[in-house]
Amino acid sequence: KTIFLKDYQVPDFLIEKTDLYFSLDEDKSVVTATLSLRRNPAATDQTAALVLHGQELVLLTVSIDGQALSDADYHCSSDSLTIQKVPDSFVLQCMTEIKPQENTSLEGLYKSNTMYCTQCEAEGFRKITYYLDRPDVMSVFTTTVEADKERYPVLLSNGNNVASGDKDNGRHWVKWDDPFKKPAYLFALVAGDLEYTEDHFTTQSGDDVTLRIFVEPKDLDKCAHAMSSLINSMRWDEDVYGREYDLSIFNIVAVDDFNMGAMENKSLNIFNTSCVLAKPETTTDAGFQRVEGVVAHEYFHNWSGNRVTCRDWFQLSLKEGFTVYRDAEFSADMGSRTVKRVEDVSLLRTVQFAEDGGPMAHPVRPESFMEISNFYTVTIYEKGAEVVRMIANLLGPEDFRKGTDLYFDRHDGQAVTCEDFVKAMEDAAGIDLTQFRRWYSQAGTPRVAVEGVYDAAAQSYSLTVEQHCPATPGQEQKQPFHIPMAMALLGQDGALPLHLDNTANAGLEMVVDITQARQTFVFNQVKEKPVPSLLRGFSAPVKLSFDYSRDDLLFLMSNDSDGFIRWDASQQLGVQVLNEMIAALQKGEEPTVDPRLITAYRSILQDESLDKAMVALMLKLPSEAYMTEISDDVDVHAIYNARTLARLTIAKQLEQELWQALRNNHCTEEYQPSALQIAQRSLKNTALAYLMLLDTQEALDAAVEQFDHANNMTDVLAAFNVILNSGFGMQKQRVLKLFYERWQHESLVVNQWFMAQAVCSVPGTLEHVKGLMSHPAFDLKNPNKVRALIGAFCGQNAVNFHQRDGAGYRFLADQIIALNSLNPQVASRLLGPLTKWKKYSEASRLLMKAELERIMAEPGLSSDVFEVVSKSLKA
Ligand code: ARG
Ligand code: ZN
Repeated sequence: KTIFLKDYQVPDFLIEKTDLYFSLDEDKSVVTATLSLRRNPAATDQTAALVLHGQELVLLTVSIDGQALSDADYHCSSDSLTIQKVPDSFVLQCMTEIKPQENTSLEGLYKSNTMYCTQCEAEGFRKITYYLDRPDVMSVFTTTVEADKERYPVLLSNGNNVASGDKDNGRHWVKWDDPFKKPAYLFALVAGDLEYTEDHFTTQSGDDVTLRIFVEPKDLDKCAHAMSSLINSMRWDEDVYGREYDLSIFNIVAVDDFNMGAMENKSLNIFNTSCVLAKPETTTDAGFQRVEGVVAHEYFHNWSGNRVTCRDWFQLSLKEGFTVYRDAEFSADMGSRTVKRVEDVSLLRTVQFAEDGGPMAHPVRPESFMEISNFYTVTIYEKGAEVVRMIANLLGPEDFRKGTDLYFDRHDGQAVTCEDFVKAMEDAAGIDLTQFRRWYSQAGTPRVAVEGVYDAAAQSYSLTVEQHCPATPGQEQKQPFHIPMAMALLGQDGALPLHLDNTANAGLEMVVDITQARQTFVFNQVKEKPVPSLLRGFSAPVKLSFDYSRDDLLFLMSNDSDGFIRWDASQQLGVQVLNEMIAALQKGEEPTVDPRLITAYRSILQDESLDKAMVALMLKLPSEAYMTEISDDVDVHAIYNARTLARLTIAKQLEQELWQALRNNHCTEEYQPSALQIAQRSLKNTALAYLMLLDTQEALDAAVEQFDHANNMTDVLAAFNVILNSGFGMQKQRVLKLFYERWQHESLVVNQWFMAQAVCSVPGTLEHVKGLMSHPAFDLKNPNKVRALIGAFCGQNAVNFHQRDGAGYRFLADQIIALNSLNPQVASRLLGPLTKWKKYSEASRLLMKAELERIMAEPGLSSDVFEVVSKSLKA
């Protein structure tokens, strides 16, 4: 059941050509695959049987070189087709029957509403036909799709449209030819009654590319942002990486039912509607940014993923980590760089650090797995991106570009490994990344403890650094990491010149390479006792600790030139204040808010020089998720109560300043998802949320006014959320009803409506959520709906999910059991909150564990759910 990286072997056979014919029909579809196979000269066993992957297929006929095989010539199991004796080179033809209309796993070929579509990554192609469904088997594909012309006027696949025609029975067909070799996971097919918007892009070489976004007719008004994001991505990848698009057509299709965000199929990207559709009236600022980021991500995969792909799924981060790094830099260039960095670090520190500390911890390049779908994780994606970022910073922009050029050039058309990526970087830059490679093989978040000692007489400042990485499942002992720590020393009038170990002035900021378990860096000619500014820009994915006084943190908050450090200092101050309050609550004492926090927030609110988005971010106390991540014996209710009380106190004491922020940031221009407007709205809505805690009529009036009259979903939803979380019952009922009535025909807005209710912190939310499960708009088969209601309640509403009687846990386990047979990938992902059971205080812990055991006892568990539950119970 478990597959190991160390067991990797090259494939016994190669598939030169793949020709597919799909006949799509309402009761069943028939796939005819004609494969030109030959033995792989590099395989060790030159007499091996042919073993093809295949699942949930009905084999109709199979032939070799035109000769039908008899029953004795082959063997079918539930996941393979074996043919013992085959020539060294031959044409295999298989006809199989599938039922896309019954496929609720949303993997392979399935129906979303009235449209056929595919999702093949990672191992979905084997649900379409028998094949060598592994990424190191690359083939050129031709695909013919035949279907009823009236119901499915649009028939798409990868590459170029090379032929089409009508049949006499009301059916028609289109043939597609993809000239680039690709693994089966990049195959795609779409058939539906779709319309498109079109634009064009001229590459640096002067080639014209037709860009189309296919949607259901009602969504044609929501494609403009994705289109401009696509054009910006294409230009950016040329400018920054020298990467051009390589076909004359690039298609995007939006589908409602999709397990993930989107998929980079060659020239036919398929997107979750939530990651492609956007217009101001229905989409929040965050939604606009997500569309931009995901469009770029999938487009960038054309080089980092498709032209150069992965040898095996242990190398997944080769394409995902690198591509996330690329899309993050793109988004930073399009909007506010600091804000993007803060958002990404927040995600890493909450979700990824939690994964590193939990039962599913795995390295960026895992060594084993049961079900690869479980490894599309924040570790592979986001930590993988941090590892690439560290490489980019170690090399510097010029050498990093040389490195990526060499990587793309050397491995174009190949299926390669993370090691090949690192090697290209080393070769291009002439540096040694031997120790750095541990970031790929060792799981867990390194702890870095730093101590600073100032010697006034010697005018020296020494930083002693200790690193240590806790054990993770299967990895007891860790070797020291190579941790690049960007740093500066701040004096009262700004950064001090750095003379490390008596060397010449290294400037005002430098990167020190931490490579040992313990080491000391001595800076000379330090004229005053500095406040160190450590891990600037979050230069490595570690937990850094330094014993800052609250005054040091206040100093960093208002003086550091690094926006990330300013924000981080505000978070550290918030953590100290909240921890003090939590301790008081637990001792039954009256908690108080350190007045220095209030003073700091006041000066942030009044600081005209700060980016407004940064003001909004710095005014947010550490999230419940972050407070949970950094504590070992989590008391959910104490965290919630301390945070709520702190927020109320802030609102009371800064009421005037908050009103000012609310009034001064009312935007009257036409909606734009620009950094400037987004910043204004986020500050205004942060202020509104604080003010609503005061339960005043003025605050309610402001929220209601915004809900009723705002021209964009960001403001409408912000108002909706604060009203739902308030004590104003009548307004609550009114906006709940009004919002649904106004938006019931926009599925994505209905998702927001579900989510707002699911994350509501008022008591009784669990019963309310249960009620919503039978709302006509809810659909357990639609992953977006499941995530909006169940996922949001269990993952983002700690105080209600963890209600003391364990009813929240029971509810989640029930849903997982129901989803296990419908959609194992979604079921497995929902497990997240339960897998962290060991972190919680005893009463919760036992109740959570009992629910995991109940799931474990279910018959017919999918490999997806089985892997996560069994590892959670074992660890
Ligand atoms: N490669 C896609 C992306 O990151 C994600 C595909 C995920 N598929 C899955 N079965 N988990 O853009
Ligand atoms: Zn990706």
